[in-house]
Amino acid sequence: MQNKIDDIQNHFEKELNLIENSDQLEEFRVKYLGRNGSISELFEEFKSLPKEEKPKYGKTLNVLKNKYQSLFDSKKEEISAKSTVSKSDIDFTLPGRERKLGRTHILTQTMFEIKAFFKNLGFSIHEGPELESDYYNFEALNFPADHPARDMQDTYFVADDFLMRTHTSPVQIRLMKNSKPPIRAIMPGKVYRNEAISAKSYCLFHQVEGLFVDTDVTFAELKGTLVAFAKHFYGKDVKYRFRASYFPFTEPSAEVDVWWQPKGKEGKWLEILGCGMVDPNVLENVGIDSEKYVGYAFGMGVERIALLRYGINDIRLFFDNDNRFLTQF
Ligand code: PHE
Repeated sequence: MQNKIDDIQNHFEKELNLIENSDQLEEFRVKYLGRNGSISELFEEFKSLPKEEKPKYGKTLNVLKNKYQSLFDSKKEEISAKSTVSKSDIDFTLPGRERKLGRTHILTQTMFEIKAFFKNLGFSIHEGPELESDYYNFEALNFPADHPARDMQDTYFVADDFLMRTHTSPVQIRLMKNSKPPIRAIMPGKVYRNEAISAKSYCLFHQVEGLFVDTDVTFAELKGTLVAFAKHFYGKDVKYRFRASYFPFTEPSAEVDVWWQPKGKEGKWLEILGCGMVDPNVLENVGIDSEKYVGYAFGMGVERIALLRYGINDIRLFFDNDNRFLTQF
């Protein structure tokens, strides 16, 4: 008797927990609670117990029976709740839930397009580190230590000699040191400047640097390339101008402005890039013979180019990650 009770106590709940559907439940019911199930068997045996044992087992058996009956009943409820959900509460004709697809950030899209444009003209693509040494960011680019042009850029210094690059021009130096002319490459990437954050400037932005070094590179060629670029991006009627400028690493230097005409407002010139003929000092710094080779270089601001193209009036929108802005592109 006691063995059988122990046996039921050891297995009843374990088996009950494994049940998943009403067929299994019925099988289980027959095994334990049915007319010939193990619990009925116990009551059968109970009848033939010696008189003095009856009170003790009588009580145990009743408690056991009630307990297991109620465990069984709640399992039964659980199973039937499950099956009604799967049969009647699901409307299979409802349209599915839309899964939102991610998309390429507008700056990345613009970057792709700039890269594709220059790739088609035969430029290769190179990248360089964002953490630079003073040498690559300034010194090799013809900014001596006390050169006033260093004030043009508000630099994030990380250590005495290391800084977050303020432009992509250091990649020119790395490239020229590691390869021989002819060199024709663009160098996209992030740059950092410690500027007060406003609608017009942010502490981080993107540039695409361009470099062409060969024996007979001319300013006219530089101009032709950049005009073709402006027309590609803003349409063939784009209004642009080349304005004389100054950079320590190019001579002569220019900046390119594009006319920005918001609807119903006063238009203005917006600068999109700097450019010029590579200063012979820079070529000498990287071991390229400046008597034999000439080069042109340009550096464009990707945010500027996108702002202008899409009529966006605040550069911070690019970095806020606001879906209402991002999903428009
Ligand atoms: N590096 C310059 C800037 O960040 C842009 C530039 C690049 C100008 C190459 C001339 C040639 O302002």
